[in-house]
Amino acid sequence: MIAPHGGTLIQRRLVGKEREKWLEKASQFPRISVSEVTAADLVCIATGIFSPLTGFLTEKDYYAVRDDMRLADGTVWSLPITLPVPFEQEEAIRKSSYVILQDSQENILAVVQVESVYQVDLVDEAKRVFGTDDAKHPGVNRLFNQSSLYLGGEIWLLNEPDLGLFRQYYFEPAETREQFAQRGWKRIVGFQTRNPVHRAHEYIQKAALETVDGLFLHPLIGATKADDIPADVRLRSYEVILREYYPKNRTFLGVFPAAMRYAGPREAIFHAIARKNYGCTHFIVGRDHAGVGNYYGTYDAQKIFDRFTAEEIGITPLFFEHSFYCKRCAGMATYKTCPHTKEHHVILSGTKVRQMLYAGEMPPPEFSRPEVVRVLIDGLRRKDTVLK
Ligand code: ADX
Repeated sequence: MIAPHGGTLIQRRLVGKEREKWLEKASQFPRISVSEVTAADLVCIATGIFSPLTGFLTEKDYYAVRDDMRLADGTVWSLPITLPVPFEQEEAIRKSSYVILQDSQENILAVVQVESVYQVDLVDEAKRVFGTDDAKHPGVNRLFNQSSLYLGGEIWLLNEPDLGLFRQYYFEPAETREQFAQRGWKRIVGFQTRNPVHRAHEYIQKAALETVDGLFLHPLIGATKADDIPADVRLRSYEVILREYYPKNRTFLGVFPAAMRYAGPREAIFHAIARKNYGCTHFIVGRDHAGVGNYYGTYDAQKIFDRFTAEEIGITPLFFEHSFYCKRCAGMATYKTCPHTKEHHVILSGTKVRQMLYAGEMPPPEFSRPEVVRVLIDGLRRKDTVLK
């Protein structure tokens, strides 16, 4: 089994007496309400998805990650996992040894040790991490709407997240490692997605599966931008496509609780490392991985892997070119394998597909499986009714 990043699978949840002790003395410490993104980060740290992180980045680690894509000890780490805190609470935080983190409904989530309180330059962070300080970029926008005062320190999770309908597919790294071992899989390819599985995704997944033992389909269910298809709607589409088009004994569906950052190249490294922690040996990086708009070059998220040695990353990235259905080839292909010109290719932009789905229109079967489309249109309609 592949070693977790940094060598140890981190576990930071308190249970039993130890947990009760902390809940009892929680009122002694300052309380901070955290965002949905931070709540998701807490779970990812506590369950080892973000191994070797044991908490939110301290000042030293923050600058090392921001500037060099490494933790202060040299371990590769490409995205700052930080805890923004309100300036109004700065004094109380500085005076305390611990801080209690709660969600928007004031439910206690975790305790964090006060190790490092520091103010950062958000514009500088945006430029280095996202490659832009354009507030229209969804990751940058989120960054600019949060405090520039960060609290770094180790965390312990005190209460479990509410998983709702994702419970059935919620497996922590320790569990997926066990599941893969039980299936006898030695080579496992992880697939990140924030979209339904369209034909291009299916093609690159299956191309990868030809050379490994199993596919870990691992859709992200954390916060996404408003116009992405909601995770609960997507979930049904994954069930359908796996049932209709994939061999049951070669696929495993799990959900990835982290939020999307849309940080393109840096997020590709981050996504790969997280999947290594789940026990994957390989990870798919296709066109414009974790990208948005035109902020990143089509293959920047592949090129960034050259900046590290294979040993430093540990998991093997599998790169795929832009994939599409070619009418002349009468099959799926990529720019690498298809000699025909673009009028033979069925290519739709993400925005166009979303518009069609919301309007109840079927994208062509060369683009998306009809079974998937039906579930999506139906799911979006229901959601619309609920929202109204
Ligand atoms: S992402 O933000 O999660 O990366 P998406 O769900 O669209 O977005 O992509 C999932 C994975 O499939 C990424 O590795 C991406 O690069 C790849 N991908 C998406 N569409 C294509 C395509 N048409 N051809 C090749 N790779 C693709």
